[in-house]
Amino acid sequence: MAEQNEIRRLASTALAEQLDALAAVLVDCVVGGASVRYMAPFSHEEARAAFEAVAAEVEHGRRLLLAAFADGDLVGTVQVILAAPPNQPHRGEIAQLLVHRSARRRGIAQLLMERAEAEAQAEGKTLLVLDTVTGDAAERLYGRLGWTRVGVIPGYALYPDGRPCDTTVFWKSL
Ligand SMILES: CC(C)(COP(=O)(O)OP(=O)(O)OC[C@H]1O[C@@H](n2cnc3c(N)ncnc32)[C@H](O)[C@@H]1OP(=O)(O)O)[C@@H](O)C(=O)NCCC(=O)NCCS
Repeated sequence: MAEQNEIRRLASTALAEQLDALAAVLVDCVVGGASVRYMAPFSHEEARAAFEAVAAEVEHGRRLLLAAFADGDLVGTVQVILAAPPNQPHRGEIAQLLVHRSARRRGIAQLLMERAEAEAQAEGKTLLVLDTVTGDAAERLYGRLGWTRVGVIPGYALYPDGRPCDTTVFWKSL
C-alpha cells in the first residue's frame, strides 16, 4: 500500500508530546553530517532541549513548526520564524528543514516547504528568506520551488565535524 504522508502544524502542546521524535530527527541529521547549527558529538538530550526552546517560541507566536508524518511516524520538520523587527512585519524566515535519512528522496521536504509557505502566507507574510549549505540537496530543492538565489557566503558555517562550508542565501515572494 502507498505510504501516507501528512504534514501537521504543531501547537505547543502537541509539540511537547513530540519532543523525542523531533529530537531523533535532528540527531539523525547531525550524525548524517548536515550543517544545521550543531556540532558533533550531539546528544538526544541536547536536541530535545533545542526543541523545548522552539516550543516556547511557538507558544508565544514567535515561530511555527510543521511536522511530517509517514504512516504515523514523525520523519521530518521545518520551522517558520514569524517574529521580526517592527519595520519588517511582512518578512518570515525558514529554519531547520530536517528529514530523517530513512525517509529521504520521497518528496517529504517538498511537502513541508509547500505547507510552510502556505502557513507563512496565512500569517500575513509576503516575503520569506532562508540560508542553506551550498551544494547540498536542500539548495536544489529551493531552486525547484521557485526561490531566488541571492548568492554564496564562503565559509559561513561548519559541518558537524568542523570542516567549513559555504552558505547560499535565498528569498521568495509569496
Ligand atoms: C534537504 C532535505 C531536507 C531534503 O529532504 P527530502 O525529503 O529527501 O527532499 P525531497 O524528497 O523533497 O527531495 C530530495 C530529492 O529526492 C527526489 N525525489 C523526491 N521524490 C522522489 C520520489 N518519489 N522518487 C525518487 N526521487 C524523489 C527529489 O527530486 C530530490 O532530488 P535531488 O536531490 O536530485 O534534487 C534532507 O536531505 C535533509 O534533511 N538534509 C539534512 C538537513 C539539511 O541540510 N537541511 C536543510 C537546512 S536549510
